[in-house]
Amino acid sequence: MHVTRLPLVDPAELDALDLTAPAVHAERDLSAVWRHLRSEQPLYRHPPVDGGPRFWVVSRHADATAVFRDNRFTSTSGNVLETLLVGSDSAAGKMLAVTDGTRHTEVRRVITGALTPAMLNRLAAHIRSQIRDLVERAVARVDGDFGRDVAAEVPLTTICDMLAVPDADRPYVHRLGSSAVSSHDPEHDSLGAWTSKNELLAYFLDLVEQRRAAPGDDLVSVLATARIRGRLLSTDEIVFNCYSLILGGDETTRLAMTGGVQALAANPRQWRALRAGEVGIDSAVEEVLRWTTPSRHLGRLAVEPVELAGGRIEAGDIVTVWLASANFDEREFAEPDEFRLDRTPNRHLTFAYGPHFCVGARLARIQLEATLTALRDLVADIEVTGTPQRVYSNFIGGTFTLPVRLTAA
Ligand code: HEM
Repeated sequence: MHVTRLPLVDPAELDALDLTAPAVHAERDLSAVWRHLRSEQPLYRHPPVDGGPRFWVVSRHADATAVFRDNRFTSTSGNVLETLLVGSDSAAGKMLAVTDGTRHTEVRRVITGALTPAMLNRLAAHIRSQIRDLVERAVARVDGDFGRDVAAEVPLTTICDMLAVPDADRPYVHRLGSSAVSSHDPEHDSLGAWTSKNELLAYFLDLVEQRRAAPGDDLVSVLATARIRGRLLSTDEIVFNCYSLILGGDETTRLAMTGGVQALAANPRQWRALRAGEVGIDSAVEEVLRWTTPSRHLGRLAVEPVELAGGRIEAGDIVTVWLASANFDEREFAEPDEFRLDRTPNRHLTFAYGPHFCVGARLARIQLEATLTALRDLVADIEVTGTPQRVYSNFIGGTFTLPVRLTAA
């Protein structure tokens, strides 16, 4: 079997380690560093990078949870290093993930209210049949790439279904979505990504105007016609929130799907247990979410001094919470470095916690459940046949290509 192991970073290298560097996350194994930080420096001060501000690194599960539920930390200066280090996020106050307080609660209620059981059931039915179909075709093909042939297709289709993007526009939205959010090569084309992001925003602007004139039951129409205390949402709020569903829901879900298959291939006993029905799909989904942890870190800015993990954070300090570490904290998880599909309890922080808990969590779980079910029913063996490629980013992580041979059940 093809097994890829990344070179381990020795905790002795910590002083020289730059956690903002995408290559560190794509090309190295940080598990020993995280273990060291959890045990010795649970509140670690990262040195400045290129003259930027220093930032705190939070690595334990309990401290991560404490940050997420504490309103002395704000998301309005950005929720990842990329924006926090430059001091602002252009979507602040307009996009859910970087809005706080009353406005956040009100707009979030509009979005979660639109995800009615009827809408979720409709999306789920489509997801299940799409994934089954894609896995059937992957099995018929025998040799292929799970990331490209299956995972890349599903989340964006689901989001387009939610927003009722017309069929004719979907290839365009898919192309822009991929280039706006993904970081598939070390020489990531940031100008191209920026252009695609702006084209997507412009696309949603048109769609909002169309739906205002002729609303349907999709999420764009709900946002375009919702009133909060008698007033419509601003166009910026609607456009940025439509865009944020692609930003938040496409690549993350793809990475969880592909990483899950990679983990099953690397753990044949777990795969056999899944196939034999000895472990439930629901607990398997949670373990895949913990194991893959597609969001590597989240960030906040302290607005007041906070005592945390034996240290003191001052107002104005940047705090990063590393889910990539918290989800493997031995204080929370028994044998965290084992992939165990029957793990219970499994209080992973893959979707964060508290007021910004992922609004797409239910949808992501449906997609993973459909993936595992299709594999269980249609596939006998999963063999990795080549080297998977990893994402170059400090805030999302995992494998986006996975050359595999799927043998029919
Ligand atoms: C495995 C897949 C996913 C992962 C790992 C993931 C992860 C996360 C995390 C960690 C947050 C919290 C951000 C913060 O606290 O700053 C979040 C928020 C969010 N996610 Fe997801 N997500 C996934 C799927 C989705 C999907 C499918 C959608 C939509 C279709 C989505 C839309 C959002 C939105 C809009 C927010 C902002 C919520 C708020 O600030 O109140 N996500 N997600």
